[in-house]
Amino acid sequence: RPVRLADYRPPDYLVDTVHLDIALDGAATRVVATLAVRPNPKGRSGAALELDGDALTFVRAEIDGAAPAPETYAAASDGFTLHRPPQRPFVLTIETRLDPASNTQLMGLYRTASCTCTQCEAEGFRRITYFLDRPDVLAVYTTRIEADKAEAPVLLANGNRIEAGDLPGGRHYAVWHDPFPKPSYLFAMVAGDLAHVADEFVTASGRRVRLEIHVEPGKEGRCAYAMDALKRSMRWDEEAFGREYDLDVFMIVAVSDFNMGAMENKGLNVFNDKYVLASPETATDLDYANIEAIIAHEYFHNWTGNRITCRDWFQLCLKEGLTVFRDQEFSSDQRSRAVKRIIDVRNLRSQQFAEDAGPLAHPVRPELYNEINNFYTATVYEKGAEVVRMLKALIGDAAFRAGMDLYFRRHDGEAVTIEDFIACFAETGGRDLGQFMLWYRQSGTPEVKATGQWDAKTRTYRLELAQTIPPTPGQPSKEPMVIPVRLGLVGASGDLPLRLAGRPFDGIVALTEPSRTYVFEGVRERPVPSLLRGFSAPVKLVHELEEADLLTLFERDSDPFNRWQAAQSYATGLILRAVRKPDLPIDARFVAAIGTFLDDARRDPAFAALTLTLPSETDIAREIGVNVDPDAIFAGRQALRGAIGRALHGQLMRLREELAGAGPYSPDAAGAGRRALRNAALYLACGSGRAEVLAAVARQFAAADNMTDRHAALSILTLSDVPEAEPALQSFYERYRDDPLVIDKWLMVQAQIPTTGTLDRVKRLMGHPAFSIGNPNRVRALIGAFCSGNPTQFNRADGEGFRFLAAVVLDIDGKNPQLAARLVSALRSWRSLEPVRREHAGAALRGLAEAPSLSRDVSDIVGRALA
Ligand code: ARG
Ligand code: ZN
Repeated sequence: RPVRLADYRPPDYLVDTVHLDIALDGAATRVVATLAVRPNPKGRSGAALELDGDALTFVRAEIDGAAPAPETYAAASDGFTLHRPPQRPFVLTIETRLDPASNTQLMGLYRTASCTCTQCEAEGFRRITYFLDRPDVLAVYTTRIEADKAEAPVLLANGNRIEAGDLPGGRHYAVWHDPFPKPSYLFAMVAGDLAHVADEFVTASGRRVRLEIHVEPGKEGRCAYAMDALKRSMRWDEEAFGREYDLDVFMIVAVSDFNMGAMENKGLNVFNDKYVLASPETATDLDYANIEAIIAHEYFHNWTGNRITCRDWFQLCLKEGLTVFRDQEFSSDQRSRAVKRIIDVRNLRSQQFAEDAGPLAHPVRPELYNEINNFYTATVYEKGAEVVRMLKALIGDAAFRAGMDLYFRRHDGEAVTIEDFIACFAETGGRDLGQFMLWYRQSGTPEVKATGQWDAKTRTYRLELAQTIPPTPGQPSKEPMVIPVRLGLVGASGDLPLRLAGRPFDGIVALTEPSRTYVFEGVRERPVPSLLRGFSAPVKLVHELEEADLLTLFERDSDPFNRWQAAQSYATGLILRAVRKPDLPIDARFVAAIGTFLDDARRDPAFAALTLTLPSETDIAREIGVNVDPDAIFAGRQALRGAIGRALHGQLMRLREELAGAGPYSPDAAGAGRRALRNAALYLACGSGRAEVLAAVARQFAAADNMTDRHAALSILTLSDVPEAEPALQSFYERYRDDPLVIDKWLMVQAQIPTTGTLDRVKRLMGHPAFSIGNPNRVRALIGAFCSGNPTQFNRADGEGFRFLAAVVLDIDGKNPQLAARLVSALRSWRSLEPVRREHAGAALRGLAEAPSLSRDVSDIVGRALA
């Protein structure tokens, strides 16, 4: 290590079939792997066969049924080598021993509360058996699992079940066969005492598919939404992309210990239970939306990831960016497209833009890694999805769909690269996409500066767009990119009809040069430019709009994204001013415009809720960029919230009353939108500090008939740091103490209290029986929420927040390096802090760097953060 894209070589050997025989038996679990190996015609002939391994205990090996001479092979915990393998097809059998219960990394075969399960992506399969653990080795898997029948009545693996039966001594077995060749990272098995709900889906061509969701016994009642989301996903992929499911059964297993969100193993998705289990009493509207999106995401991987996979891990965005794009489109079609887009862009800016602006910046397709697990990032996933979205914008809907069809046709069953993917669209779009490839290679968020001038005499509007791309680690200078900019010019009564270069303007330009001037014709009045509509490219737009122009866009733009953006930009400007000049009063025109907007807010509550949500502290910090003082930002944001609350509390509370739900809770988009607007109004009204508003929050907390409203009330109370918060926290705990996923919300709201007592509270909660340092969900709910969701307290000027993080990371790193490395990325923007905080953060990072026996995961992040 490090591993470089430029060093890629095809494997010297291929594995056509894998027979795994896994006998679960506590600490002495036995794995016998039988591999049909042959030399790869594209590899080096006569090369040694070097199988990957990680923390394995070797027992024995056979070649074509006979024990090899000791000097012909080498077996260690981290690999198995055959020095001179036969230069013809042969069968290699290897037996290893494992202890799933002591596997705290949650990679490979491990124990969780309800079962023994696997996580193999990216390099976990080598923790189960020796293998060519790389995505370009595709094999057909047959898996036999054997276990104690009482302990593990349910035995699952990829594919279709072809055999099962009882064995002596209270044991039983099942054999699963997956006919689709796949890389090892898609292998999965699950054995445990699980309950399930079942359903059926009939595909477009009439195949009947059995659907199963397996959960801890007693949780069956919380699977209905996930099952419904799965069926909608299956139908949608048929309609939107012509993709049908291909096995007889599709299974989901929900587990309570999981490093990430979920995993797309062929036919057997394993999920963090947080993204499966939901009931109105335990899940918020956001939880429901996440479940829908992640169920869809993993299902969509069946084609984008599984049937067509990645040649190597540098191509991760080939499956992840594309599949995120697909799940975003699904959610847009199921809910509101405009609302979904705003939510996604907000998330992109807060996560990916922050990553791209700091020391951990990397291209959508990295060219070097020390630890691949650290590249499951917002850049690979979310910016990767933006790149696919831009591709579609540039070549058009029809050519995009044709390109996807071609991709599926041409590469089904293969392990391919971004170049292979893009070549399909170059063909169907009939254009050269060479410059477009820069989106995969250049890191950093491009800045697009717009300057415009209306000429009354010639009725023209000259728009100059200029791009610059900041230097990023390893990339001091950049080439100009192709940037699709959707735009319109807004006049007194809406969009002006425009001509560009003598033709009716179709609403989008592709900026390919460092700068370019577009002259729009037929512009009869002074317009306000509406640029980057729908956020047509992941760039930072810099424009010269005045506040009056922003109000025009807010009120009249035909593009809902830019209506929202105008309000956000206005609010951002006000908060920035309040940060710099805390004594100036807040601009009354903005507050008045919000007041007018409220009169009409009921027309589209979900959109209105987003409009009423003020830019976050992190948004403001990113805007400021250097010498960030989180306390000043907090105060500036509170000043705006207070001004709105004091001026509009009556109107906000009336709106909330009018939207009060009729009938029982339903998680659909309409109901969720109403609740979001009611709670956004309540949050702003609470900024007034008025007793009757606080009383309403406390009433909502006590009387809510669903978790969305109860949680929103609790969060407003804790964020507002009022005496009502403590009894509410107490009663919440008593009510949900037996429900870990709900207790995570209780941990999280406490971790985010913006006052000085919070760090001590977090430390105290780490000793609470509800907390467990070994469970990723608990760790993220308490420690992750504190470090990434509480800017003022994590970034305390005395450095205690940073020291706390460093200590926790060292503790967790010994057990679960992936989880520890994720926590460290809370420091990814440390260089933009003001000098005192920056010094403390740097010291915490240097302390970590010097710690003995750091995992590769953590030392990679720390090393890059300090570089
Ligand atoms: N492929 C999974 C998904 O996108 C993520 C799994 C990542 N796992 C890991 N250990 N890095 O849904
Ligand atoms: Zn994915």
